[in-house]
Amino acid sequence: MTRLNGKTAVITGGATGIGRAAAKRFVEEGAFVFIFGRRREALDTAVADLGPNARAVQGSVSDEADLDRLYGAVKAERGTLDIVFANAGTGSPLPLGQITSEHIDETFDTNVKGMIFTVQKALPLMREGGSIILTGSSAGTTGAPGFTAYSASKAAVRNLARTWAEDLKGTGIRVNVLSPGATATELAKEALGEEGQKAYGAMTPLQRMADPAEIGAVAAFLASADSSFMTASEVAVDGGLAQL
Ligand SMILES: NC(=O)c1ccc[n+]([C@@H]2O[C@H](COP(=O)([O-])OP(=O)(O)OC[C@H]3O[C@@H](n4cnc5c(N)ncnc54)[C@H](OP(=O)(O)O)[C@@H]3O)[C@@H](O)[C@H]2O)c1
Repeated sequence: MTRLNGKTAVITGGATGIGRAAAKRFVEEGAFVFIFGRRREALDTAVADLGPNARAVQGSVSDEADLDRLYGAVKAERGTLDIVFANAGTGSPLPLGQITSEHIDETFDTNVKGMIFTVQKALPLMREGGSIILTGSSAGTTGAPGFTAYSASKAAVRNLARTWAEDLKGTGIRVNVLSPGATATELAKEALGEEGQKAYGAMTPLQRMADPAEIGAVAAFLASADSSFMTASEVAVDGGLAQL
């Protein structure tokens, strides 16, 4: 498919997991992709795999100067931007009763504040017809035991799309939330462990975890004109986990 021919995309958290699968799909569909994340080695490996239509910028979404460098690189090489996949996220469990201020700050700095600045700083480069995709989670809708900060941060992401769809009226830029459920990535492994992952997969009506490519495919749909009448929506790609 060539749905993204000539488009320029930024994917935060694009070196691994869902972001990397989306980057692969975007490139396959014709896009030029900038991936952004903190680990140099992961970025280098991903860019080598993605080929000549991919660039990596190292940095944290929690650092405004790093985001300025990201968009500086986009402007210098491509001039404008069509797609922002604000996907970088972090999350670990901490039961109610043991939650710390640091845990809340770390989660919200990345998942909420980092996402807000990722999008705000992209806007001056974005063109009419642009698409912003925010990675939410089934945990933003359901109760996820032990995941207070993570779940609350993802519930906040859901509202960002609603509010920004209003704020972006008249610009021709759409914004939607893509909410994965159980997906086999590093984050799921670290947050849940092997047993937890099995249980998480088994809880879904499809009785398995998603392959990150299954989430990347929906990100490509939301990035493309195939979703041209969608904004402020949440698309659940969760094997039915949060839909029952
Ligand atoms: N896997 C699941 O079951 C699942 C379910 C629902 C939602 N999600 C969401 O999906 C998104 C992607 O996660 P994933 O599952 O693909 O896990 P992952 O492979 O661990 O991806 C997370 C990515 O975010 C990057 N990242 C984290 N903090 C960052 C920061 N401060 N600045 C820039 N990049 C940062 C990481 O790279 P560096 O560490 O190198 O910075 C990594 O590439 C997250 O928003 C997550 O909450 C995942």
